[in-house]
Amino acid sequence: MKDIIDKTNIPHHIAVIMDGNGRWAQKKGAMRVFGHRNAITAVREAIEGCAELGVGYITLYAFSTENWSRPQDEVDALMEILVQAIVDEVPTMMKNNIRLTTIGDIASLPGKCQQHLEGGIETTKNNTGLTVVLALSYSGRWEILSSVKQIVKKVISGELPESAIDQDVISSHLNTSDIPDPELLIRTSGELRISNFMLWQLAYTELYFTEVLWPDFRKEHLHEAILAYQKRERRFGKTGAQIKS
Ligand code: IPE
Ligand code: IPE
Ligand code: MG
Repeated sequence: MKDIIDKTNIPHHIAVIMDGNGRWAQKKGAMRVFGHRNAITAVREAIEGCAELGVGYITLYAFSTENWSRPQDEVDALMEILVQAIVDEVPTMMKNNIRLTTIGDIASLPGKCQQHLEGGIETTKNNTGLTVVLALSYSGRWEILSSVKQIVKKVISGELPESAIDQDVISSHLNTSDIPDPELLIRTSGELRISNFMLWQLAYTELYFTEVLWPDFRKEHLHEAILAYQKRERRFGKTGAQIKS
């Protein structure tokens, strides 16, 4: 399937809502945490698949603002798995020229997670291949709200005239200020919603939903999603005829 992908039309940024870990585990008669542990293989496949095709950015929605309200032992287990994944994956990232970065309220994560994240970001910062963006304690509304607060402060202090506020000003105050908007969003597990992910950035993103549960996600599923994307006509409000001319 990889061979029929048009290499001249690869999305520069792919965003992923990695969903279905709990149901994957429950189907096997196991605890939800078993699903989270088995999500790492899927993460590795998605990253490798993107790197092989020359994708510039992959954003992985790993933990939402709302996920803090899950049972405390599940939250604790997710934070442990995150630390372990960073420890295990950073050497591979170095080998493959992959850069790690984050979006979200990183200061709200346990200290140990913050330290490992900072370490991983620092170690990989000069890599020039794929950028992996981990969305942690992230939500679109949280991000827009933080951006509005920063802008208001600048207007009050006189640093920014109100008349200068435009879409670029808002974009540049989001966590993603140096990351292009995603062309493709993939959500696994059959749920047809955005769940507070990249609300501003997804304005014209192509949405792709699959029934596959995240721990089962493999490169072939990524390839299927990219092929589906390549069949879409992105019109950005124009007519089909305008796009073709
Ligand atoms: C996605 O899988 C992982 C996180 C949200 C952290 P879920 O844990 O949401 O799995 P389901 O949706 O309950 O199956
Ligand atoms: C979205 O999945 C968040 C992540 C994948 C991190 P959820 O499982 O939390 O979403 P809902 O609650 O089903 O909308
Ligand atoms: Mg879920």
